[in-house]
Amino acid sequence: MPASSRSAKDFFAPLAVGAPAPVREVPARPSRAIHFFDPSNPKMAAKIPDMVGTVDVLLGNLEDAVKADNKVAAREGLVKIAQDTDFGPTQLWTRINSLDSPWVLDDLTTLVPAIGDKLDVIMVPKVQGAEDIHYVDRLLAQLEAKAGLDRPILVHAILETARGVANVEEICGASPRMQGLSLGPADLAADRRMKTTRVGGGHPGYLVRQDPPVDELGIAHIDGPRSIFQQDLWHYTIARMVDACAMHGIYPYYGPFGDITDVVAAEDQFRNAFLLGCVGTWSLHPKQIAIANRVFSPSPDDIAHARRVVAAMGDGTGAVMLDGKMEDDASLKQCLVMVELAEQLAAIDPELKKQYDALDADTTGQEA
Ligand code: GLV
Ligand code: MG
Repeated sequence: MPASSRSAKDFFAPLAVGAPAPVREVPARPSRAIHFFDPSNPKMAAKIPDMVGTVDVLLGNLEDAVKADNKVAAREGLVKIAQDTDFGPTQLWTRINSLDSPWVLDDLTTLVPAIGDKLDVIMVPKVQGAEDIHYVDRLLAQLEAKAGLDRPILVHAILETARGVANVEEICGASPRMQGLSLGPADLAADRRMKTTRVGGGHPGYLVRQDPPVDELGIAHIDGPRSIFQQDLWHYTIARMVDACAMHGIYPYYGPFGDITDVVAAEDQFRNAFLLGCVGTWSLHPKQIAIANRVFSPSPDDIAHARRVVAAMGDGTGAVMLDGKMEDDASLKQCLVMVELAEQLAAIDPELKKQYDALDADTTGQEA
């Protein structure tokens, strides 16, 4: 892999004369659910204004799931929705077509001049390596300069090719525009030639089995009762994605969970991603928004505990015992991650704020 010859000093210089200065830190805006809608579908489009404020991110999808014949209608529909809607606290993202498609150039050259001031993040599918981000980075700078935009549009890559996974660290570090990564389990499964036929989630065939019971003569009965435990097909990729994102100060997300009816398994998959470090997920149906908002917000119980640890740890060094468990500088840091996230979420979610505020009353006077 050739090392880039770009000087570190130039990394934050705009890539076109007159383009806005790149951000030095990705703003930590809540994005628990990224709700996908098809802007070419008039019924879905009509619902968007009413969804403002009910979800952290609304994403106008132009790529897969939009029929080839509807690509232009989707692009034009998104322009219209964006121009006619005040998004208030809700972010507006889009997923453009893939870089090897006949549509992507028109996606970018239409959207940036028309609604670049409203678009927070552009999601780029099927990213293979840093070169894909560099292409989008320069083009966006040129279009932003031409449109006179005063803040850069951020870029989010979908991790959905084997080469993309192999290059995940360089993708995350390819531009100051990089906001985050999402797992794309459907395309990734196809690209890796996995033998699944689902959009995200587990598979009953991917399991480990308990050893066979052994009788008093020492004979193993392979047909005897044996527990099986389904394993998570996505653990490796999500864990790699989380590390690459953390290394570059950007945000990891679970992606689509296609079985809309199985709200239980969706919640499990989202929670695993949250516990591993993801900040949000996609929502393909309004049902999934509520699940994501719940799962990607620290529970009041966790926050109560985290606040107790913060209070008990004083200057943040040393060790204390709480309920028979040792807490120290490192467990304090974990608790601070949760407390900071809770504060960010409470600032935009009044219901959650109430739940967290109620804890203050409960914990006042509690002994460390
Ligand atoms: C999402 O785009 C996926 O392919 O899973
Ligand atoms: Mg995909």
